[in-house]
Order: sequence, then C-alpha cells, then structure tokens
Amino acid sequence: MRLSPLEPSQDKVLYQQVADRLQEQIANGTLKPGDRLPSIRKLKQQLSVSFSTVTEAYRLLEDRGLISARPQSGYYVKLTALQQHLEPSLTEPYARVCEIKTSLTFKLFSNLLEPDVIQLGAATPSPEHLPVAPLNRLMAKVMREHPEAHTYNVPAGCERLRTEVSKRMLDAGCSIHPDHLLITNGAHEAIYLSLQAVTTPGDTIAIASPTYFALLETLKALNLKVCALPTHPRQGISLSHLEAALASGNVQACLLVSNFSHPLGTCMEDDTKKQLVELMTRYQVPLIEDDVYGELYFEGTRPKAIKAFDTDNRVIYCSSVSKTLSPGLRLGWCSGGCYHLKVVYRKSVMNRMSAIAPQLAVTAFLANGGYDRHLRHLRRTYQTQMHRMLQAICDYFPAETCVTHPHGGHVLWLEMPEGFDAIQLYDDALQRGISIAPGPIFSASGECYRSCFALNTALPWSDRIEQAMQTLGHLAKKQMAVNF
Ligand SMILES: Cc1ncc(COP(=O)(O)O)c(C=O)c1O
Repeated sequence: MRLSPLEPSQDKVLYQQVADRLQEQIANGTLKPGDRLPSIRKLKQQLSVSFSTVTEAYRLLEDRGLISARPQSGYYVKLTALQQHLEPSLTEPYARVCEIKTSLTFKLFSNLLEPDVIQLGAATPSPEHLPVAPLNRLMAKVMREHPEAHTYNVPAGCERLRTEVSKRMLDAGCSIHPDHLLITNGAHEAIYLSLQAVTTPGDTIAIASPTYFALLETLKALNLKVCALPTHPRQGISLSHLEAALASGNVQACLLVSNFSHPLGTCMEDDTKKQLVELMTRYQVPLIEDDVYGELYFEGTRPKAIKAFDTDNRVIYCSSVSKTLSPGLRLGWCSGGCYHLKVVYRKSVMNRMSAIAPQLAVTAFLANGGYDRHLRHLRRTYQTQMHRMLQAICDYFPAETCVTHPHGGHVLWLEMPEGFDAIQLYDDALQRGISIAPGPIFSASGECYRSCFALNTALPWSDRIEQAMQTLGHLAKKQMAVNF
C-alpha cells in the first residue's frame, strides 16, 4: 500500500491528515479488516513525517475505533465495517430431553478427503499453518533414538508429556499434577472415555445448542439422550435452563466446549464459569469440559478453563493438540477429577495406551520447539483469516445475514432469515466444489438451525476462498430471491 505525499493544509494538523488518508483506504476497502497497517518506521519514511506524527495518527484511528494495536505485532484494521451484520441471539432449541438423530454428518466427513472440495465445513486446521516440518524431524529423531517407542507404556501415557501438559494447564488457571492426567487419542477419545466413566446408557446429558456434530454422534453411540440448552454466542448456555434441568433430577452429566466453542465461538466469562461450577457442585453432577480451542484466543491472555473454578473436583477436563499442532497425531489428554481412575480404567480396557512416538515428539516440541512462538503466529493468522471471511460475508452475502464475531478459534456461525434452507445451500455448494456445515447437524433433534450454517476460517486465505465465498453469497441470495 502506498499513500501519496501529503499536501499543506490550513485546517488540519499533519497527524490528522495522515489518519484521514488511512481512513479513506479503510473505507474504500484497500485496507481490509484484519490487514496490518504499515509499520510506523515505514510510514514515516514514505510520507516524510516524524515518528510522533505517525504514532499520533495511529492513536487517533484507534480512538475512532478503526484500528487496534496487537502486542509486538503492530496495528491492524478492526471489524468496524462489519457492524452492519448483526450477531445471532440466544438460540431456541427444543429445551427438552430428546434422543439424538443425526444423518448428514457422515456425508460431511466423507467429502473431507476430496482434494477438489473447498473445506469450509469441518473445523479442520490447514497443514500450512502447522509446524509440520519440525514435527516430522522430531518424529524421525524419536524413531531413531527411542527404542521405547516400540514398547508398552502405562495407560496414563508418557510422564514427560504429562508434565509438559500440566505446565501448560497453569495458563488456563489449573494446577493439575501429572499423575492426574491421562494421555488419549485426541480430545475425542478423552470425551468418549469420560462419558463412559460417568454415565450409563439412557442417561441424559446437558449440552449447549448448537453443539459440535461429532460430539452428538458420540453421545448417540453411547445411547445417551440430551437436554439441549438455549445458548448465546457471547454469554454461553442459559444457566437458568441448566438449573431447571438439574433440579428436575433428570440430568446425569453436562458436556460443554468452554472456550471459543464450535460452532458458536462462545467463550464464557470467568464469572459465568464460576457460577456454572457452583451449580454443578450443588447438584453433584459431573461436567465434562472440552477445551480444544482455549489456546487460540486473539487478544489478551488465555481464557481460563472451567476446571480452574472446580473446588469439588467434579470437572473432567479434556483437550488436545489437534487444533494447534496436528490433528493427525491424535494426541489429547484428560484430567478426570474425582472420576480419574474410572477414566484411566476405560482407556486401559479400550486400547491399553496411546502410541508412544507421537507422545515423545510432541513432548519435545512443547518443551523446546518454540510452541509459544508458533501459537502467537497461529493466533494472528487465524484472526486475520477470520476478519477476511467476515469481510467477504459483508461483501457478498445478503444484508440480512447474522454472523458471530468470536474472539478466538476458527469457526463462524451464520444465521439467515427464517425459511432459508441451509441443507439446500449445502447441496448447491457441494455441486460447485464447496463444503459447508449446515445447521441441523449441530442440533440433537436434527430439526433446529435449518436456516444456519458454520464456516471454517482456518484455511489460508486465497483467491480460491474469496471466490468460494462469492459463490456461497450468490447461492444464498438466489435462494432468498426465489423463496422470500
Ligand atoms: C469442539 C471440538 N471438540 C473436539 C474436537 C476433536 O478433537 P480431537 O481431534 O483432538 O479429537 C473438535 C474438532 O473439530 C472440536 O471442534
């Protein structure tokens, strides 16, 4: 981006002129939400102005709410232009106990491996953003130097990995001894084992609604029913509905994604997390926490885990490296609180232990592979990509589109006017080589969220993605023109 030289002005001081120039670039779309502004040094040279003129200009743009500073990274264009798109409000699932009906999920998974399909449906990170080369080197080193990679281990998993995980959990506000951690095949297995440990078939589990479709499949496979709670994209589940469900005595456990949930992107406030734990403690009901997105916050510090507020040891914490390092290594963990031994027992009877080589490689990466540096980069990348996608929604989608504005993770949830058919959009889009995640697959009854769909923002932004967004917007407009 180049700005033309400034001209003398009677009524505006220099820094205001610089700010106005940049504002023009933002308004005409040259600088898009999520774009990084030129460094202060670069702009100072380009415009032949002083350092303080540029810093003052940036400060003014911050005051105008157009840009924001990110520590050690620079200034970025904010999502101001997107305020025209409202956020979805509190969801209204059928707040009653129901059996789980899923149908489309396997179709979505089956096209996941098709190279020609643009995967905007499943929340899969792109290998381009993951430290694939260093992990490959570490895997090769492990196989060369660690004969124990070919032996049995204890079900709990490698102690050094558990120590590394335990250190990282301090950032989430949890002080967990490595002996109270179990290494699993991804978060998914951790959740499956936890559910097995605390429920029996026919039990009812309270969940947020919408909920990640693979979790619904897991609940269904275990013959569990759900109580779907109304959920706000910002505030999270309705605690009053949860309390009513707990008071009825018909809920045997609760399963929640605590930070930047999939698909709503919800990150509950600390106070809400605390109240939630108090509620579960009062009714002595276990809570299974899925925190796979906790480290993918865009601003500030890592949000706390629900487990951080657990005074009664009734929260089972589950997470993994699938969203930050590699989904393919299948490495997750679980801290089962007072149910821990039951969870470990289930792991040992199911598959005895997780493969050792990925555990050793990930241990080395966490200990001294630059994990924090990688995370900083990943967060910036995901934030920028999410902004790009939000901008594309602004540019191409019907004005009536409501969309979430999560502060982390990599999923957006879009809500179209009632009567819109997201399954129709899914079919139309797939014919054009684009996969989306239609709303009903996130609903236990399979009947809610027909007008909603989720988009994965983890793919590197490119002309191909931009075009895919344009196509989706066009298909959405076409459907609305015919049906509304
Ligand atoms: C909320 C949530 N939990 C769990 C998982 C799966 O995690 P893992 O690959 O570690 O099993 C996903 C993957 O998309 C997810 O979105």
